Amino acid sequence: MTSSFQAPIGTHDVLAPQSALWEGLIATFAQFAFRYGFTLALTPMFEEIGVFNRGIGENSHVATKEMYVFQDRGERTYALRPEGTASVVRAFVQHQPTIPYKAWYVTPAFRYERPQAGRYRQHHQLGVEVLGTDDPAVDVEVIALAWRFYQALGLTQVRLLINSMGHDECRRRYVDVLRGHLEEYREQLCDEHQMTWAQNPLRVLDCKKDACLAVTNDGPSLPDFLCADCATHFDAVRRGLIDLGIDSTLDPRLVRGFDYYTRTTFEFVAEALGAAQNAIGGGGRYDGLAEQLGGKRTSGIGFGSGIERLLLAREAEGVTSNLINRTIDVFVVDTTGQDVATSIADDLRSQGYAVDRAFDGRSMKSQMKLADRSGARMALLIGPQELEAGQITMRDLRSDDFEQAQQRVAREELLSALRERLNK
Ligand code: HAM
Repeated sequence: MTSSFQAPIGTHDVLAPQSALWEGLIATFAQFAFRYGFTLALTPMFEEIGVFNRGIGENSHVATKEMYVFQDRGERTYALRPEGTASVVRAFVQHQPTIPYKAWYVTPAFRYERPQAGRYRQHHQLGVEVLGTDDPAVDVEVIALAWRFYQALGLTQVRLLINSMGHDECRRRYVDVLRGHLEEYREQLCDEHQMTWAQNPLRVLDCKKDACLAVTNDGPSLPDFLCADCATHFDAVRRGLIDLGIDSTLDPRLVRGFDYYTRTTFEFVAEALGAAQNAIGGGGRYDGLAEQLGGKRTSGIGFGSGIERLLLAREAEGVTSNLINRTIDVFVVDTTGQDVATSIADDLRSQGYAVDRAFDGRSMKSQMKLADRSGARMALLIGPQELEAGQITMRDLRSDDFEQAQQRVAREELLSALRERLNK
């Protein structure tokens, strides 16, 4: 016998009942995105590698260590998307929709990480991007969307960290001073950053090792380097959040992992989760990204949120609500031998009922077992007797009172009887 296959390391199959939570989460996000005026964007799962190298930065950890890069049969070099933003901005530059362009997406993302709880090689993100305006009100709207969405999921222990990286010039001035500081203390950095601090000094701020933390805690602080315009912009964002009653904490170390970020950056941390996987969402401005990808200079901002992490956070907080009703209404048990289940199910489904049924001519007992397992509220029984009499037996599967639970109705009256029993 040949051995069977398993899902690749760091990936997961999502099947029922867990998949119902995914449906609920995605449907809730789609509803929120619609309420906030976003439209869905679907872009390819892979792009020319340059889209990501230029977008997230050739020297970023994700581009150098984690991207899934491959050559197709035409010898073009592509990469599986490690995140959603670069593709949406590439599509924006290509199609030039009217601005402000507000897009939402749900997508798998691929990163060759060391798999552990909450960190996968294929994870899934819900996200939004807005292109074409640098109004601080947009920053507030994007952050508020995420915040209200988390509230709707039942999460109550979420902290919002916020920072501003300034525009290119503020950032450059800061990076110069930071580089000088790191050079002075380079021997005290962690092993990895002793080698790499000079290439990308900002990455040292992300390092969670004590050695690097000690050096950077005493170093220059980003907000001190903002020019007047960037400081005013950041103040407006923070004031806007206060006006909406959304608490945020300034985190001057928050520079995030991709090179495209400018001005506002933010991260949502689930306090119920461990530090290695507690970022349930993050994002920020990327006012230079469209230009980087060959378009006109266009402001942009967005966020992405990991579906797996959101579900872990709900579990850790003990949230049990289902988000969406995924129990079916009716299970048809057909023992006539003439497959009347097909037409009954078709009728009811056309009327909006969720219906399942058995196949393969199973016995009554076996079909009833399936009906119970399906979670349906009502079983509809049709055997030779019912067929002869033009009737159907309705059995309430949630009732213990046999007399009350069972009722025979004429087939023409099935819909009204069901409506009454199911309150639909
Ligand atoms: P990111 O912070 O790299 O940002 O990812 C967004 C979210 O995806 C994280 O907060 C986390 O919840 C989830 N996530 C990331 N990597 C993994 C992983 N390996 N396993 C499980 N979950 C993960 C971005 O990707 C940006 N594109 C966000 C953005 C949108 N910025 C502007 N617009």
